[in-house]
Amino acid sequence: MSDIKLKVEGLNVHFVNGHRHTHAVRDVSFTLGREKLAIVGESGSGKSTVGRSLLKLHPPSARLCAKAMRFDGIDLLTASENVMRKVRGQRISMVMQDPKYSLNPVVKVGEQIAEAFLAHHKASRREARERVLEMLAKVHIRDPQRVYNLYPHEVSGGMGQRIMIAMMVITRPEVIIADEPTSALDVSVQAEILNLLADLRRREKLTYLMVTHDLGVVTHLCDRVAVMQQGRIVEQLDSQALSQNLATHAYTRMLVQASRDFSDDSQHPLAG
Ligand SMILES: Nc1ncnc2c1ncn2[C@@H]1O[C@H](COP(=O)(O)OP(=O)(O)OP(=O)(O)O)[C@@H](O)[C@H]1O
Ligand SMILES: [Mg+2]
Repeated sequence: MSDIKLKVEGLNVHFVNGHRHTHAVRDVSFTLGREKLAIVGESGSGKSTVGRSLLKLHPPSARLCAKAMRFDGIDLLTASENVMRKVRGQRISMVMQDPKYSLNPVVKVGEQIAEAFLAHHKASRREARERVLEMLAKVHIRDPQRVYNLYPHEVSGGMGQRIMIAMMVITRPEVIIADEPTSALDVSVQAEILNLLADLRRREKLTYLMVTHDLGVVTHLCDRVAVMQQGRIVEQLDSQALSQNLATHAYTRMLVQASRDFSDDSQHPLAG
């Protein structure tokens, strides 16, 4: 692919807690161009650790090494904290698995989104507020003026996730890493958020790295998928190949079969 934005080669992550040692990510390599790549795999296979490592948001107990980890000419392995701060939010944004932990409980949600905007754009407070209200409307929040003034504990799970998405998109990042953006939500709200992401994807021309358990999300929202098992990427293939049952690795085939057994594909909230 000619337009590679992100390149990871031979990434290994170890967690060391006293005598406990976990080799969470093993020799992972992939590239990300202007596309939507999904990472799927069982719980504990290392998906979130890969996502966090890209932004160097791993905890202090993690030891990270790689042959290469580059984003648009920046060597992420050696980049200073100063450089990483500019990359995070402004160029690569991440939505975490549970948004509740990403919002500051004592600051109104609108003000938090305005802060994210002002951290990366020169604008007055008033302009920032206008942009936030526009963005809240874009993520289908019906009464942006009211929601602007709510505190995180006053919003529902689905609305919290929309707020996180607004906060992420307002900085106009080039890459979005979304770690199970819907896993904390009930099924009807999941479908709404996934439709919102699909809609933003069309309008904002974003590059996505989407961690998900849901093969329906892969086939409906993503171009390509990397399948992880026990810290390794065992297979990478086009979503189309996945839906045509062309996966070759036994684990991927098992995932496909399990999702078929679980639900008829045409019933998926994103189908049609
Ligand atoms: N802070 C940590 N300290 C020690 N071990 C960790 C830490 N974070 C993750 N791990 C371990 O690393 C491995 C990969 O975890 P990770 O959270 O990346 O998996 P995941 O694929 O995102 O799982 P899930 O689908 O449940 O979110 C697991 O064995 C996990 O226990
Ligand atoms: Mg995870």
